Amino acid sequence: MNFKLTTEQEMIKKMVRDFTEKEVAPYDAEIDRKGEFPWEIIKKMSETGLFGISFPEEYGGAGADAVCEAITLEELARGSGSVSITLNAHMLCAHPILQFGTEEQKKKYLPDLVAGKKLGAFALTEPVAGSDAAGIQTTATLDGDEYILNGQKTWITNFSVADIVLVAAKTDPKAGPKGISVFIVEKGTPGFIVGDKEDKMGIRGSDTGELIFDNCRIPRENLLGKEGQGFKIAMVALDSGRFGIGAMGVGIAQHAMEEAIKYAKERVAFGKPIAKFQAVQFMIADMAMEIQAARNLVYQAAFKRDNGERFTVDAAMAKLFASEIAMKTTKNAIQIFGGYGYSREYPVERLLRDAKILEIGEGTSEILRMVIGGSVLR
Ligand code: CAA
Repeated sequence: MNFKLTTEQEMIKKMVRDFTEKEVAPYDAEIDRKGEFPWEIIKKMSETGLFGISFPEEYGGAGADAVCEAITLEELARGSGSVSITLNAHMLCAHPILQFGTEEQKKKYLPDLVAGKKLGAFALTEPVAGSDAAGIQTTATLDGDEYILNGQKTWITNFSVADIVLVAAKTDPKAGPKGISVFIVEKGTPGFIVGDKEDKMGIRGSDTGELIFDNCRIPRENLLGKEGQGFKIAMVALDSGRFGIGAMGVGIAQHAMEEAIKYAKERVAFGKPIAKFQAVQFMIADMAMEIQAARNLVYQAAFKRDNGERFTVDAAMAKLFASEIAMKTTKNAIQIFGGYGYSREYPVERLLRDAKILEIGEGTSEILRMVIGGSVLR
């Protein structure tokens, strides 16, 4: 067992940190204020190769491991939750194509996704089916050489900016989870309708909203994997998505702690910097300890993916723990800032708003406790 990052992992960490400090972090307050998708940053990420870190070289990626993927998401989130979640959701599209796609599908879709020239999204959630993913109602009916998609998706990250969307739909509505299939759907296909954008509390630069499929005809060859395999594809995709969200939690918490430390050293009360008071020291000590523990959980889940092991429970633990400590850390960072922490003039209130979604998206804390509890009690 080795807790030291490899040379490649250290290199990627430094590269993404430098990129984030120069190209991402200085703009996050403005992204949040305007609630606009950060196209300029996404373009620079694409030019820097950040979309392809963990994809094979044959599709244009860097061929790095899942730990590097986690490091990339953490470092981006240290600068901007909105930017990091855009990449996280993009990978929910690109990874399943890599894992379950035919050679033709991989050749057709992966090079542009891996290069970040095209953005991806994964459309699973529906107005009546969030946690109950098997309860989706969107249907896909085979008609000759085409499937006809009908239904509505909601809370889809990258909904309007994605060129390629993986859509989960029922091909056999009576078969429960085994009646779900996943389709590769290109933006611009007739019947693919981009709906309303959500006005969110946090990660306000990320593009979240609804998609509608109205007799949307998809070529039969755009079925990903086999008919009926869609629930498994979604769950496998979410396993990676979840440790990615965990990595985001670590990045946001790390940023909040750094802000709290800086402020605690500068702010004087009762004749000395507040960092000298145990009440503040204890809060910061807990932040440091919990961030390290969360990071280790994230790396462990990523490490298992790299080893080809099932990492469902590890990813659930990583996401659950990291998102909860991100909330606790950002809340206590505000406490250390006192009244200033509650002001939009300082970044910590934004970090708390950004952190909250991590306890909800890609599996709520309650669903993840079910996944972990079910496994432990089996
Ligand atoms: N890997 C491989 N297979 C898996 C799996 C995994 N991680 N999880 C489940 N499966 C398989 C099971 O083995 C089982 O297969 P068999 O019947 O062959 O044994 C099958 O899938 C059904 O599994 P379960 O019985 O465990 O399923 P369930 O219905 O009891 O519930 C659940 C599972 C954990 C509640 C699941 O529905 C879940 O994770 N829900 C949360 C969904 C979620 O995270 N949604 C957010 C999506 S994000 C989004 O849409 C927006 C965006 O922008 C990304």
